[in-house]
Amino acid sequence: MAKKTLESRQDIEVLVARFYGRVRQDELIGPIFNDVARVHWDEHIPKIQNFWADLLLGENNYHGRPFPPHIPLGLKVEHFERWLELFFLTVDEMFEGQKADEVKMRALNIGRNFLANIQHLESRS
Ligand code: HEM
Repeated sequence: MAKKTLESRQDIEVLVARFYGRVRQDELIGPIFNDVARVHWDEHIPKIQNFWADLLLGENNYHGRPFPPHIPLGLKVEHFERWLELFFLTVDEMFEGQKADEVKMRALNIGRNFLANIQHLESRS
């Protein structure tokens, strides 16, 4: 089947739903969402869909600060690597083109920033 271009809200919704479907079953990072943070998926998924729709489509529906919820989770480099691996896999499975490249680049940059910020906070404590 031809891949889509990740240019619509619906494409983003499908990507996010599939990605977290994978995340919650993953043996390394699934427990962080399910047991450590006890994520309410009904709330988390729409929030993340808004987050990416703001970045990719210029919507203005995510109102929050993405970094703080990550601070107490004890995240290490391997958690970020797995998160990004699953994200890239899910993007590439269904999408191609400029927006598909952009979403991967943005996720990589955000992941690097989060990890650097976490390491910085840990080095001071
Ligand atoms: C690598 C790039 C990542 C991006 C772009 C990202 C993005 C986000 C965003 C936008 C939120 C919502 C924040 C809010 O407004 O409440 C969030 C929450 C969260 N993220 Fe991440 N995240 C990343 C990595 C990770 C990793 C590696 C983990 C764990 C393995 C993780 C676990 C969580 C958890 C548990 C929450 C709180 C969920 C909730 O209670 O709704 N994130 N993330």
